Amino acid sequence: MYLSLLDIPNVCLSPPTPRLCTCEDYTRQSHIPYNHLFMSGLEDLRAKYEAAGQSHVFTYWDQLSADEKAAFERQLRGIDPARLNAMVKQALDADEAARHEQNAKVEPPPTESQVSTVGDEAKSNYYYEIGMKAIAAGQVGVLLLAGGQGTRLGSSAPKGCYNIQLPSGKSLFQIQAERIAKLQELAANYGRKAGVVVPWYIMTSGPTREPTESFFREHGFFGLDPANVVFFEQGTLPCISNEGKIMLDERGKVATAPDGNGGLYAALRVPVRDGEPSVLDDLQRRGIKYLHAYGVDNCLVKVGDPVFMGVCVDKNVATGVKVVKKTDPAESVGVVARKNGAFSVVEYSEIPPSLSEARDSNGELLFRAANIANHFYTTDFLMKDVPAFESKMAYHIARKKIPSIDLSSGERVKPSTPNGIKMELFIFDVFPFCADLAIHEVERKEEFSPLKNASGTASDNPETSRRDLLAQQRRWLEKAGATVANGADVELSPKVTYGGEGLQNVAGRTFDQTKNIESL
Ligand code: UTP
Repeated sequence: MYLSLLDIPNVCLSPPTPRLCTCEDYTRQSHIPYNHLFMSGLEDLRAKYEAAGQSHVFTYWDQLSADEKAAFERQLRGIDPARLNAMVKQALDADEAARHEQNAKVEPPPTESQVSTVGDEAKSNYYYEIGMKAIAAGQVGVLLLAGGQGTRLGSSAPKGCYNIQLPSGKSLFQIQAERIAKLQELAANYGRKAGVVVPWYIMTSGPTREPTESFFREHGFFGLDPANVVFFEQGTLPCISNEGKIMLDERGKVATAPDGNGGLYAALRVPVRDGEPSVLDDLQRRGIKYLHAYGVDNCLVKVGDPVFMGVCVDKNVATGVKVVKKTDPAESVGVVARKNGAFSVVEYSEIPPSLSEARDSNGELLFRAANIANHFYTTDFLMKDVPAFESKMAYHIARKKIPSIDLSSGERVKPSTPNGIKMELFIFDVFPFCADLAIHEVERKEEFSPLKNASGTASDNPETSRRDLLAQQRRWLEKAGATVANGADVELSPKVTYGGEGLQNVAGRTFDQTKNIESL
């Protein structure tokens, strides 16, 4: 049976603490007929909501069918309304404090945390060796954040299914899968052994899980072994009205929203599906020590990047982040910095112009470490460190127009102004709790071109993704001694090259037509 994580209380409501009941409890209960299971406890449930000032959720109870009651009761049992109230208060307080925070001390990150490999082949090679050794030893896994709804892109399918109109017509998922396959091959050659596995953990959400899994099945997992592709699901949280009330999506259904890409940390602990281990269990079983986590929408992402892994392993840190250079002080991008003495991603709006424009003795922006959603974690950090500070991470508030039941009329309304809040954690919310953080600066044109907006918009759209990937592959071909005619868009399959290596065969060749190269 498929479970949404809203049914799994320890995910949806307790990234921070107490477990209400476990998924295992729920699974056991789900075999018991609904009327036997819940009849006796309904009054208790009502009392819990009453005590928390949320009894309005039962307004339409008597109008629901038996099946609707069963589903609704299950959903309500997955929510601890008192704990939810406390979370909302914590989030609103943090939001309020942030808006009035005037004297935050913002500083550039310490020099000793930063490593740049931009334009330094010898340094890249040094870290590549360290990273490759770990990959060849089967110690590295990759973790994809694919729970976002891609609202700005406007595609109905999950973003990873998107075809950016490369000559091959490959989706983002396929490009990433083939890079993993190539990385496994490179690591096997490096370690002189067969069968190196880089497991792929794919975090989905309620809206993206089913279509993502179907897409992988339809495409034969793009040649990867399905045993090494693990889908799991982030949690969801109830939407809250401006008056602090749980909102109803239907008369018998709470309105919910995914809990942000920082929902990752809690989701790692939950069985990936009924009766199966969690991602953390799987990491331990496989002996994975290091993880590379990244966003689905970057067509240039170096999945499992040996150089990034090498930087973080060499620095012996529990967490790391890959950044690109911010060159324009006005670019509205979050930068990795120190805020009130702790590592943080500081938004453009939080830094006064006098600081965002300040430059160091080399003429570089002091605050230039632009965050590109590429993270490194040790398994130990995820297992042991995160649970110790998790309850201190306040949810962020997003004020949204949330379609919901109007309790005065009983009708579902689509508001024209924000009528409620969604709560989210961000993946980088762990940074302030990290004693150490490796900050690895890489070349933007080689590693970062995000797909955020719909076709025809000004930036970060399917056209810029296609352009940047093909420009990269032209550079690789030309560096290897080939000539690429003007107007010819030559795509190199990850089966041919992971990062520009292994192109000796193209030296002296001319490519004068747009095409995809699957083998050389
Ligand atoms: P974005 O913040 O860009 O969100 O996600 P999005 O869903 O892709 O796009 P919009 O904002 O709706 O237009 C950055 C990364 O975090 C993942 C996304 O899938 C993407 O890889 N993400 C985001 C999640 O995994 N879960 C979430 O709840 C939100």
